[in-house]
Amino acid sequence: MDTGASVGFLPPFTAVDAERWWRTLTADVSAGRVLVLLLRVEGRAVGTAQLRLAQLPNARHRAEVAKVLVHSSARRQGYGRALMDAVETAARNAGRHLLLLDTLSGSDAERLYARLGWTRAAEIPGYAAVPNGRLAATTIYYKDLGSDSLRRKA
Ligand SMILES: CC(C)(COP(=O)(O)OP(=O)(O)OC[C@H]1O[C@@H](n2cnc3c(N)ncnc32)[C@H](O)[C@@H]1OP(=O)(O)O)[C@@H](O)C(=O)NCCC(=O)NCCS
Repeated sequence: MDTGASVGFLPPFTAVDAERWWRTLTADVSAGRVLVLLLRVEGRAVGTAQLRLAQLPNARHRAEVAKVLVHSSARRQGYGRALMDAVETAARNAGRHLLLLDTLSGSDAERLYARLGWTRAAEIPGYAAVPNGRLAATTIYYKDLGSDSLRRKA
């Protein structure tokens, strides 16, 4: 947050708030509805991402990518790309080929997704509050990994 992350939270955001929020995921993670990825380098956690598997009967091919974060001291070293590669592998393994995400328009994350071949679908003005209190636009992206990639694997 203090270093440009737009992942849903606003300051003040303490370690206690963070722990409380992580614990809210327990049921979904246990049930396999949410996959949490953690990237460790030499024993240190440098990044994380989540894959939220759509649950409705007509959406079992779909998943949302969320909370993509690389530690501020570890950015621009390829970890974001590595996390997104792992997200795609996890999605294929879960039988999901259509991925969606949203991100703050104009952010570093938007550049990452564009570089990795995500397609820009739409922009929604005033979607999310940012730390200075204003409402900022969000851009929605999708990436179709191709249903063939799942069938070939099966
Ligand atoms: C977005 C984020 C995950 C990128 O992680 P990262 O480890 O720095 O990304 P990478 O080093 O793998 O970058 C891969 C490519 O993305 C693009 N990119 C990433 N950060 C960029 C930046 N600050 N400026 C321009 N391009 C950038 C580049 O094309 C880069 O390739 P290059 O370094 O060969 O030019 C990281 O900046 C972050 O955690 N931001 C805050 C959290 C956030 O906003 N998350 C998104 C929520 S949807």
